[in-house]
Amino acid sequence: MKAKSSWLVLLILVGAMACEQKKQTQEDSDVREDKGLKTYYQDYFPMGVAVSPYAIKGEQAELIKKNFNSMTPENVMKSGPIHPKENEYNWKDADAIAEFAKANGMRLRGHALVWHNQAPDWLYVDENGEEVSKEVLLARLKSHITEVVTRYKDVIYAWDVVNEAISDDPDEFYRDSKLYQICGEEFIARAFEYAREADPDVQLFYNDYEVINPVKREKIYKMVRGLQDAGVPIDGVGIQGHWSVFEPSEETLRATIDRFTGLGLEVQVTELDVSIYKKEHTRREKLPTDDDTFTDELKKKQIEQYDMIFKVFRENKEKLSSVTFWNVSDQYSWLDHFPVPDRKDYPLLFGEDNQPKEVYWTVVDF
Ligand code: XIL
Repeated sequence: MKAKSSWLVLLILVGAMACEQKKQTQEDSDVREDKGLKTYYQDYFPMGVAVSPYAIKGEQAELIKKNFNSMTPENVMKSGPIHPKENEYNWKDADAIAEFAKANGMRLRGHALVWHNQAPDWLYVDENGEEVSKEVLLARLKSHITEVVTRYKDVIYAWDVVNEAISDDPDEFYRDSKLYQICGEEFIARAFEYAREADPDVQLFYNDYEVINPVKREKIYKMVRGLQDAGVPIDGVGIQGHWSVFEPSEETLRATIDRFTGLGLEVQVTELDVSIYKKEHTRREKLPTDDDTFTDELKKKQIEQYDMIFKVFRENKEKLSSVTFWNVSDQYSWLDHFPVPDRKDYPLLFGEDNQPKEVYWTVVDF
């Protein structure tokens, strides 16, 4: 009897160990078998990433191919880099990204036709250095938009036509940029029309940041509605998504997405990153109090924030037609230099070693 029950205990023990081992192997193989971000999300939305010509050549190229099925050029299609002088275009870098997208069957978003930042100086002045008239500026915008949109007609499916035209100041509607000073609000509608003329099939987006701020969000809503009412060819709104471990809240994120879907437009998250710092949108000096340690506490917060964000995105998959990360990995992100110069940030799903971070597994585990 005693011998029998010892055997039984032994058997149970062996069984339990085998079970544990199986679970372990399963967990290990889950970690080892990484299908890539885009595959986990294939029934939800395309996964995009902002790239530089360097990123598509170097060690990040494989990571991009494995995880993403959409790209946005981070800088090289902006008007300054691509159109440095009135009669000179620099197509090389933009072409390289377009070729990479085509070769790998990836979608390509164009960014950005009209933006007050990274615009070339020549755009606003004549040969004597005098500010140009509204007519001249609009003609220059038309020529720029026509050239660039036409060149990438075969590969770009959506363009950010106007970027960041709304003011952050609650008491001001439009941003007081050179474009606005010379043309008034008219440059916005015209830009969409020029883009539509150049490519009847491409989707045309208005793109902006701080859309989670209810005051700015309402201004954007009002402007977009106004454009629609006036028959301006606008197809979508890009919510940039430069967020942080401290914002937005789930409620705010839901309200932000919902606000624009009622307009019958495409809604995309175009520039996602989740900074480990309190969000600031204006450049400032680095201070002695700026600490860039990525503490365990912040890692946990980032995991919780990404978890919430992607849960909301998945629940809204019918409303969101694409999600794009702004940069590939924490090896380099624009937030290493903005808003504070030389303050390292860790905003993405892949680490400084270009490997998935713990937060990656949270985002793909649903
Ligand atoms: C940023 C780039 O990532 C940086 O490399 C560049 O120095 C400045 O612009 N909103 C936008 C993007 O629409 O074009 C910006 O990209 C980030 C904020």
